[in-house]
Amino acid sequence: MKNELAPAASSALSAQWQVNQADPAVVLRRALELYHPAVALASSFSLEDLVLIDLLLAVRPDARVFALDTGRLNPETYECAEAVRRRYGLRIEWYFPKHQAVEPLEREKGLFSFRESVAARQECCFIRKVEPLRRALHGLQAWISGLRREQAVTRSALQVVETDAAHGGIVKINPLADWTLEQVWSYVHEHRLPYNRLYDQGYVSIGCAPCTRALAPGEDQRAGRWWWENPEHKECGLHTHARQSKV
Ligand code: ADX
Ligand code: SF4
Repeated sequence: MKNELAPAASSALSAQWQVNQADPAVVLRRALELYHPAVALASSFSLEDLVLIDLLLAVRPDARVFALDTGRLNPETYECAEAVRRRYGLRIEWYFPKHQAVEPLEREKGLFSFRESVAARQECCFIRKVEPLRRALHGLQAWISGLRREQAVTRSALQVVETDAAHGGIVKINPLADWTLEQVWSYVHEHRLPYNRLYDQGYVSIGCAPCTRALAPGEDQRAGRWWWENPEHKECGLHTHARQSKV
């Protein structure tokens, strides 16, 4: 949904983050000042999201966090979400796919249709992630993600603050865009954050269970996601950067 307040507010935010580009805490504080309660963090309980949750709730304990339960997440991811919920007393805003879409998909095409083609994979991602994301973003002026530039070729042009053309031109904030994986791990260890135990088993990027595997030594950070596809296809539709622009 496009909100009339967004353009003026986002240029103010842009001016602020250019000064403090390297400091996610400042970016998050500014985002909350400008948009709360019409701003929320999207969390898959990745390491990056854990850092952002920690920083965000230090500014406002009532800051909003939503999560998309695709129905196919790893048990370790649910355990991590629960640890986060308990640690912060956080009310996670969960979204589930529409059963009217999942039931025909599974009945007609089985439980692993996403292995058959990129189009079939995108269909599953649309039903389980993209459509629920649209509902999660409804009514928001801005959203926050844990995306980082070094994660993938598809993310190399990522900005700290963008307009999200795919979601009505609302503001999208990526406070960790510049961070390396090492910086993320340092924060997690320093602050003793609970994290997904799959990271201790060689996983680096974690999504749905059947579409995620551990990395072999030397592989790219996202090589364990949809490993049967080319790197240029490896986005599920939550993040469509080609249609976004820097504010
Ligand atoms: S994905 O598009 O390939 O699935 P990735 O796993 O790299 O994304 O996560 C990047 C960011 O997208 C996360 O930091 C988070 O902000 C958001 N995100 C990804 N999956 C979810 C989810 N299931 N629920 C909420 N946010 C998510
Ligand atoms: Fe479906 Fe795999 Fe996409 Fe999850 S990551 S929504 S299981 S195709």
